[in-house]
Amino acid sequence: MEISDSVLRKSERTVFALRELYASHGFGYYRMSKFEEYDLYARNKEFLVSDNVITFTDTGGRLMALKPDVTLSIIKNSPDEPDRTARVCYNENVYRVDEGSGSFRESMQCGLECFGRVTAADAAEVILLAAESLSGLSDRWELSISDLGLLEGVLAGSGVPADYGARMLKAAGENNIHELESLGAECGCPGAAEGLAELLACSGPFRESAARLTGRSAELDRVAGAVGASPLADRIRLDFTVTADINYYNGLIFKGFIDGVPGEVLSGGMYSSLMRKLRRRSDAIGFAVYTDKLDRESDTREGRGTDGFVNVALPKGRLGDQVYALFAEAGFDCPSILENNRRLVFENEEKKLRFFWVKPSDVAIYVERGAADIGVAGKDILLEYAPDVYELLDLGAGRCFMAVAAPRGYRDDKSGTLRVATKFSNIARNHFGSVGRDIDIIHLNGSIELAPLLGLSDVIVDIVETGTTLRENDLEVTEKIVPISARLIANKAAFKFKREAVEKIAAGLRAAVGNGERK
Ligand code: PRP
Repeated sequence: MEISDSVLRKSERTVFALRELYASHGFGYYRMSKFEEYDLYARNKEFLVSDNVITFTDTGGRLMALKPDVTLSIIKNSPDEPDRTARVCYNENVYRVDEGSGSFRESMQCGLECFGRVTAADAAEVILLAAESLSGLSDRWELSISDLGLLEGVLAGSGVPADYGARMLKAAGENNIHELESLGAECGCPGAAEGLAELLACSGPFRESAARLTGRSAELDRVAGAVGASPLADRIRLDFTVTADINYYNGLIFKGFIDGVPGEVLSGGMYSSLMRKLRRRSDAIGFAVYTDKLDRESDTREGRGTDGFVNVALPKGRLGDQVYALFAEAGFDCPSILENNRRLVFENEEKKLRFFWVKPSDVAIYVERGAADIGVAGKDILLEYAPDVYELLDLGAGRCFMAVAAPRGYRDDKSGTLRVATKFSNIARNHFGSVGRDIDIIHLNGSIELAPLLGLSDVIVDIVETGTTLRENDLEVTEKIVPISARLIANKAAFKFKREAVEKIAAGLRAAVGNGERK
């Protein structure tokens, strides 16, 4: 029976096309059970995208899990043969918490693994198959490759303490140079920040960037020739904002993007570190394509993302007015925005700019989900929700700080659990967690200062700007947690496909911020 193309969803067609591609390169089809013993995931939680796993008890009383990941199962169920090259491909459903809805979601992954003896030719072939997979999904795609060994080498060479190393890698992943600099200064290793910033600056078209780094990384050198020789290399970039957990991945890692889909649609890399953790002698490289994201593509953008405009989400209110003034000073204005009306979307056709006014706390969601390409969000929101976005610039506007405050004269005797009222539960949890203080969070949505006055909490964690609200309510700052200001953020995929326009805006704003500081 022939199947007509018209009855297949885009994701289903993709699965068949990818399987055919991988089979033509000698990757055998690997089929597996929907569940695994939970213990496998409990021991390798950090390897998983999210540590939430659906569990159940089987008839023998064993704790089982619906698979949140495919790679771990394939490796666990395969022999450890470091002298033989195994090549398998799969398409399997996995069960993970969706970042957006926070609920479990079944999603299809189609990918391949090459393990055992992995030669330079094998590694290059896998990278080029990742590129070919993307080229089959869209005309506008990009494969971003990074070298975790190089990033890790900078940290190890400068003696950065492990906790700071993870924070610096995270900042590199956000393209966040100002955060890198402050972390470098804070841990007494400014050289590490400079080294990482230098690598970020080496990001660029694969052939040129790999040539510039020749001799710095054996992993990169051994694939550079084969990857660079492929016509697909025109769409491959070295991009050191791609990072991963160094306990699992090592060497080359990569992510794939297609225009119109907000996050990555492909992710992979070398994971020999995971193999060692699983007591395997073999090396390994592989990737997965998140095919279900392709069906969601049309829901989110409706063509707006690809019409050549840069979509900007600005925070409504006083901060938004200050920030718009910076855009206007930098030459990215939109006169209709100043008209007194209730419209929320404004366009400057000539400059191909579209501004949206959104609730300040929602800016990061619009940008992370790709409804806006760039936006301006407070550092408080970025710390609280940790959206997967680039943080390009500190705009300096809306300066304030996050603090712990308590009724005047309050002393924490540390004998019991501290009751903390806040809008910023994650910031509060991280702060008190870092000093080992046991707390109870009371999550409120506003007028936080009221909580200790009415005995609802002992202290609060909140934003302090002028200090007036605290003073007038007989409260005082007991600890400063972190300075806050408005940041320019960008959607990671949009940044790739509108790089030139976004970089121009960021450069203009950087100059406008500099002018403001000099005045
Ligand atoms: C913020 C914050 C403090 C106040 C601090 O409240 O939550 O209450 O500003 O500013 P100050 O130090 O200059 O007094 P916001 O106005 O956002 O309202 P909210 O109470 O609803 O959070």
